[in-house]
Amino acid sequence: MADDLIFPDGFFWGTATSSHQVEGNNRNNHWWAWEQAGGNIKDGTVSGIACDHYNRFAEDFQMSHEWGHNAHRFSIEWSRIEPEEGRWDEREVEHYRRVLESLHDNDLVPFVTLHHFTNPVWFEDMGGWTSDRAPELLGRYAGYMAEQLGDAVPYWLTINEPPVLPAACYIAGVHPPAKRDFGLAMQAARHILMSLGTMHNAIREKAPHDPKIGPVMNMTYAMPASDSEEDRAAAKLMDQYWNAYWLDGIRDGVIGAPAGQGEEVPGLKGAWDIVGLNYYSRSVVAEGRGVMGLRQVAPAPDAETSTMGWEVYPEGFYQSMMRLKDYDVPVYITENGIGTDDDEQRVSYLVRHLKEVSRAMADGADIRSYFHWCQQDNFEWAEGFRQKFGLFATEEGTLNRIPKESAHFFKDVAENNRVPGRLVEKYAG
Ligand code: FCB
Repeated sequence: MADDLIFPDGFFWGTATSSHQVEGNNRNNHWWAWEQAGGNIKDGTVSGIACDHYNRFAEDFQMSHEWGHNAHRFSIEWSRIEPEEGRWDEREVEHYRRVLESLHDNDLVPFVTLHHFTNPVWFEDMGGWTSDRAPELLGRYAGYMAEQLGDAVPYWLTINEPPVLPAACYIAGVHPPAKRDFGLAMQAARHILMSLGTMHNAIREKAPHDPKIGPVMNMTYAMPASDSEEDRAAAKLMDQYWNAYWLDGIRDGVIGAPAGQGEEVPGLKGAWDIVGLNYYSRSVVAEGRGVMGLRQVAPAPDAETSTMGWEVYPEGFYQSMMRLKDYDVPVYITENGIGTDDDEQRVSYLVRHLKEVSRAMADGADIRSYFHWCQQDNFEWAEGFRQKFGLFATEEGTLNRIPKESAHFFKDVAENNRVPGRLVEKYAG
């Protein structure tokens, strides 16, 4: 029989969410507008009231507490806080204060993301991430939040998945403004990297305590489709854009390839105390005529995939954690999960990925948390509600949260800091 996987005392277990996907009625951001335009969401749904988490947060947090979690990651909706440029909505600040109080009341340590994909409409109208003013405006927003709520926040996460933003909004064109323009993508990539610095420094300056601050990376494990020199170069390029540009950029305080030539950015160097890691899958890459001269190869027909079409590849998770080890910054797993209608596949995914966390920790990676994506089924961006990532189902109509088998599994893990060897044997033997 396989051994139990044992996690250290004080390890954080919880789920992650984001404002637009669960709150409902985020009418002031550019996603809402894009959904209303029609034809942009694959299954024809819109975020609408989503999971009504804006009104049900206290029940959701009580549920997390009762189900054994000790931490929770959520995001503040910038478009609620600053609905017009420079106008702060104090009622919304109060709302998030109540959210934080409720987390503390339920013994859940808050991890607060400040930007999770959505832009206020006014910001998008000036060009969003492509605007030269982005780093200043993001810094101002982050500083304001730290000043208002900093006494209740031990962990700030500045921007969710920097590499996804230019790629989805300006290369693949699957997130608004849905453009395909490499020049704009690189402009956005520069401003996002710079914003990681301005936000970090603003929080550091304004927060009353001494919080931990960092970005949330979405790392992919880029592998060449073949041994050819060209494919290996393509995989290296993929890794450069997706991982190294951001990680080396912060470590060294520079804008490197592909968006820059190593220009120094004042205040960026070392602007992280922690780093968040979201991991879902690997990328198999070949040379090609696509953007940056590469193309992504679809998973083999017999590969295990999710309903998103993403290949299940736990080894890449291990490789990503080991890669981060070189940067010598504590790592918090801020997202990992699977879109599936088969909840046993979710349990199996969880076991296999937690095994990689345990293996990376045994090999010296400094991993402090595991946040599963997601607490409940929710609005999965351009895919709509059809994708099911939750430990809990969100019942249509009532929006009641219905526990799945995976919620029971996760409760047992979180409460005991261990994955039973019997399940390791069964799913990852
Ligand atoms: C991540 C996003 C998160 C969710 C998951 C499935 O890239 O951060 O909001 O959509 O994917």
